[in-house]
Amino acid sequence: MSATILDGKAVAAQLLRDVGTRVQAAKARGVEATLAVILVGDDPASAVYVRNKERRAAEVGIATRDHRLPASTTAASLHALVRELDDDRGVDGILVQLPLPAGIPSEPVLLAVDPAKDVDGFHPDNLGRLMIGKPRFVACTPAGCMRLLAHAGATLAGARALVIGRSTIVGRPMAQLLLQADATVVQAHSRTRDLRAEVERADIVVAAVGRAELVRGEWIKPGAIVIDVGTNRTAEGRLVGDVDFAGALSRAAAITPVPGGVGPMTIACLLDNVALAAERRAGLVA
Ligand code: GUN
Repeated sequence: MSATILDGKAVAAQLLRDVGTRVQAAKARGVEATLAVILVGDDPASAVYVRNKERRAAEVGIATRDHRLPASTTAASLHALVRELDDDRGVDGILVQLPLPAGIPSEPVLLAVDPAKDVDGFHPDNLGRLMIGKPRFVACTPAGCMRLLAHAGATLAGARALVIGRSTIVGRPMAQLLLQADATVVQAHSRTRDLRAEVERADIVVAAVGRAELVRGEWIKPGAIVIDVGTNRTAEGRLVGDVDFAGALSRAAAITPVPGGVGPMTIACLLDNVALAAERRAGLVA
């Protein structure tokens, strides 16, 4: 048996069409969906991510306001910019691209973002709301993973779901979403004693640790659904996920490729959140 390959680009394209329609509906009410993007420093990978987000935003009719600050920016001036955008009634969403340069702690910056404009879903208020099952904005990568699971036709209620990774922006919100969908959730991390045994039991595997091909194909339970969040560059320059894709292909029922799986979904879910913020400003949704 060969796994179905979950085409993140196609699922993202479908979501982006819906986002475009909703952005137009907000516009008809006089609200131009607007995302403010803050990029500090000159990390080349971050610059690529930001360019991709801004490009996709333009395609669906979302305006972007680009704020590029040098690596020498002080925490105080970054905070001042965030506060200015918080108060700007024309801005629906604020995105502070991470990581910030060493010397600017990210936590106080993320706390300064108005939770009602926190389209990344990183503010503790939004993470807390997710935990009580009343989300305002769901973090984009976990939201994208849930959409891919739905696309795969996964039955989550009662399933054993393994989340590998416990980051605040992916692993933890992912586990919450699976729990709310009635899965039996195990969260593995770097101190987990026997990762192989956990993978062998799991009906759903979400790998989000950033270690190339950590999860071996032969560990995958036959028929499992595998969502690979990792994007890692090998010594030979190949782009690979956290899962040994070729090995998993003959065991899983469905698996996301890297690239072209979770990545496109993250951007689409970000713009979905911006559209939601604009719909709220336009009084179209609560
Ligand atoms: N850096 C890596 N991923 C993300 C993301 O989803 N949002 C932001 N703001 N920064 C990131």
